Amino acid sequence: MTGATVVVVGSGGREHALCLSLNASPKVGSLHCVPGNAGTARIATNHASESSIKALVSLFKELAPDLVVVGPEAPLCDGLADACAEADIACFGPVAALAHLEGSKLHAKQAMEAAGVPTAAFHRLDKTSNIDAALDAFAGQPWVVKRDVLAGGKGVVVTSDRDEARTFIEFSIKADGYVLLEAFLPGEEASMLVVMDGTAYRTLPASQDHKRAYDDDEGPNTGGMGAYCPAPVVSSEVHAKVVERIVEPMHAHLCSQPVPYRGVLFIGLMIDEHNDPYVVEFNVRFGDPECQVTLPLVATDMYDLLHGAATDRLHEVALEVHDSVALTVVLASEGYPASPIKGRPIDGLPHVLAEETYGEAWVNFAGVAQDEDGQYTASGGRVLSCTALKGDLVSAHDAAYDVLQQLTLEGGHHRTDIGHRAME
Ligand code: AMP
Ligand code: GLY
Repeated sequence: MTGATVVVVGSGGREHALCLSLNASPKVGSLHCVPGNAGTARIATNHASESSIKALVSLFKELAPDLVVVGPEAPLCDGLADACAEADIACFGPVAALAHLEGSKLHAKQAMEAAGVPTAAFHRLDKTSNIDAALDAFAGQPWVVKRDVLAGGKGVVVTSDRDEARTFIEFSIKADGYVLLEAFLPGEEASMLVVMDGTAYRTLPASQDHKRAYDDDEGPNTGGMGAYCPAPVVSSEVHAKVVERIVEPMHAHLCSQPVPYRGVLFIGLMIDEHNDPYVVEFNVRFGDPECQVTLPLVATDMYDLLHGAATDRLHEVALEVHDSVALTVVLASEGYPASPIKGRPIDGLPHVLAEETYGEAWVNFAGVAQDEDGQYTASGGRVLSCTALKGDLVSAHDAAYDVLQQLTLEGGHHRTDIGHRAME
């Protein structure tokens, strides 16, 4: 076998997107995914999920990869990149000490304070705190209460109801010992993915996710119901501010550590009415579904980009970007996000599955399984997303929804307004 061996860790739509981009690289000879999903199975060899970092690294040793790409944050927080370094395996994804930036919101706030990065003011509250005084301090706008745990998006309450804020604060202090109360940041959100290592950083085009379950940003928070890229709210003026105020200081901070940050830093941004950017959160991974719309815009060979960052050679890799627009719309199971109903058949998929490279429109598999008879079934809350790459946003929107219309999943739901902010 010629070409590089690459292992992607994870099982969602993000990992399918990573596999699609890596599969398009002529430099990749052999692609593996742990555990992957029914989509990655079409282009990579899936391996059964491993229960520990040690077991994962033993699998890597068997496969002898040139590169491991870690999709989700949990294995990074558990030290997968550290274990890869010990085994001399190139890993895209930061070591645990730096993955802490996502693992602990308090740590992220302290890192931002140290680096002088703009973010919401906050109070750390514990059982000795005067909760009413803290609520008073941020009164007049919604209260933002954040548990300092990896809660999959469920650890944050934004509310104008003082009693609800107080109840969640008290609950969180009981559960975790402390909680953060943050000033509310008004504005429009966007996501910026920055690939970095000890030598350089590369900012990928900014995107916008749609976190609420239903149209018009109604309903509960989800992992993300759709996204598009590039997001015009990040104009060249805003982009320059983000680079100067956030990316440069964070890169300097993260690369002055004993082991530099090698991976992607996800910057959740709030852009206010003066076009000033603030950090809402950092993640240490590609966003999902942001990844599905950002990677197709990257013209640079994906192996070169990810391997470069994993080996401190990113300074040798130039980032080139297509002048196109990508949009993805998520199909979710009935009951998502509260209690998704799984196991139902998805019909229509074989008709819309093209060859395994990006065309003009395609399907990113997330919670999709395939049974012995070849029938695809929904195995998760976010089941799949339909993605299109076109010359403009409206065409990308129409092409992605056209694919979605060809699929049926009993009780399945999706938003009909992905991209609305950029189209109004
Ligand atoms: P997080 O888990 O920190 O990303 O928060 C989840 C969501 O809550 C974000 O995507 C925002 O929509 C909202 N949010 C978080 N922090 C703030 C804030 N300080 N001001 C306004 N909205 C916020
Ligand atoms: N789509 C938001 C996230 O991945 O955290």
